[in-house]
Amino acid sequence: MDPEAFRAAGHLVVDRLADYLASVERYAVLPAVEPGSLGPLFAASAPEEPEAIGAILDDYARLVEPNVTHWQHPGFMAYFATTASGPGILGEMLTAGIGSNAMLWRTSPVATELEMVVVGWLRQALGLPDSFDGLLTDTASTSSLIALGAAREAAGLDAAARGLAVRDDIGRPRVYASAEAHSSIEKACMTLGLGREALVRVPVNERFELRVEDLEAAIARDRVAGHQPIAIVATLGTTSSTSVDPVAAMAEIAEREGLWLHVDTAYAGAVAIIPDRRAPFAGWERADSIVVNPHKWLFTPLDASLLLTRRMDRLRDAFSLVPEYLRTLDRDAPVRDFNEYTPQLGRRFRALKLWIQLRWFGLAGLRRRLERHLELAQAFAAWVDAEPDWERLAPVPFSTICFRYAPARLADDPDGIDELNAALMDAVNRTGEVFLSHTRLNGRFAIRVAIGSLRTEPRHVSRAWELLRREAGTLEAAPAGILAPAPAASVAPSPTARSTAGRSAGTAPSS
Ligand SMILES: Cc1ncc(COP(=O)(O)O)c(C=O)c1O
Repeated sequence: MDPEAFRAAGHLVVDRLADYLASVERYAVLPAVEPGSLGPLFAASAPEEPEAIGAILDDYARLVEPNVTHWQHPGFMAYFATTASGPGILGEMLTAGIGSNAMLWRTSPVATELEMVVVGWLRQALGLPDSFDGLLTDTASTSSLIALGAAREAAGLDAAARGLAVRDDIGRPRVYASAEAHSSIEKACMTLGLGREALVRVPVNERFELRVEDLEAAIARDRVAGHQPIAIVATLGTTSSTSVDPVAAMAEIAEREGLWLHVDTAYAGAVAIIPDRRAPFAGWERADSIVVNPHKWLFTPLDASLLLTRRMDRLRDAFSLVPEYLRTLDRDAPVRDFNEYTPQLGRRFRALKLWIQLRWFGLAGLRRRLERHLELAQAFAAWVDAEPDWERLAPVPFSTICFRYAPARLADDPDGIDELNAALMDAVNRTGEVFLSHTRLNGRFAIRVAIGSLRTEPRHVSRAWELLRREAGTLEAAPAGILAPAPAASVAPSPTARSTAGRSAGTAPSS
């Protein structure tokens, strides 16, 4: 593709994107497609001869755009939103165009140094001291994996060199996190060779916050049993209910026990850019590592996760391996080769989109938008609280509300309430106007409304509530049997048609 052809096609693509973002509401948030129905719409083999870009983009418009789940739709209130802001998308385009691999300082000097700058900007914005350094990764899952890899080294297991298999010189490693901690912590234990059994799930209180006395008891029990505690994970903003673990008390325990403290605040951490709203985070500055995802609530296109740590040296102990062909920097250079701190070698230039975005919004602009989401969530919670047949199932410290429809007639039928709420959520999602997901709290089905998209306005939130009440009324009025699964939906709907049938939302929120 010569530069002029690239320019012409590039203009078409930008126009297409601008049109998409301007009119994304014409789509149902969830495409009305069945699993396995899309693959057959594409050619079974790659073409032998080149094709024209116009034809390829036409197929994009026909086959791809209508069949995505529309994360940029203002009615997206499932999981945790990931907004691709305009400036963020432009940053992605520039990143792709420059096409640098930021694995070494030498292979992309400005990518490395701008990453150090942007990490510093975000650290300051979050109100954390300059003892924290850090880096950008793809996801919170990777950030937590890196943090726990560093914790493993800090505990003196020397696992990077010796591995953990067939070791009779160490106890069985233990990591402590609440019963509500994200599955990525358990996955990190699997991946790091600690094993899923290494993760001790500490019980939570009625607000879904880790119980400190149970944490202390679990560590004491494990020490007596000869196990090897290595890390504690505090979650500030859990995935299901956005509960907040008592991080200051956990920091106290971690310091006393000589354990690494990792804070997973992938979603909620963004709120700390608002100085008046930092109360839930008090004590996190004592952590060894903290993960915040700009691709969740800072409107950055996937992917961007910020890993802050006071112990960069431990990350390096865990992940540095420098073959001769990658040996370029002096050990005491003022910059770094970031690949030494992560499992991967190749690295994207993620700092560019963040730098563009932070300048375009300004911190004040980001704060204003987060405040709006926090206020909308309180308003929604108040609507639920005001209705006798609706029940809120968790506190709302941030912008996610967990609740259910619980009519008095089902007071003695908890399974019936679960079934009714699953049907209700499906019915609401089938309208195509909003997309909600669910979780289980105390074993019971809870609908979640998670407000976090840049494009969500008050009217979308009130519409979600209206639809919930309307569909609850319809289900109550329907004859028995209405809870049967929805009929199969058509494939590749017209972009202008609202879907009338669709897939149910996924299972536990995960994104
Ligand atoms: C608290 C928490 N941690 C980690 C994750 C995983 O995030 P990622 O998809 O960036 O790995 C999530 C996802 O929702 C989360 O809510």
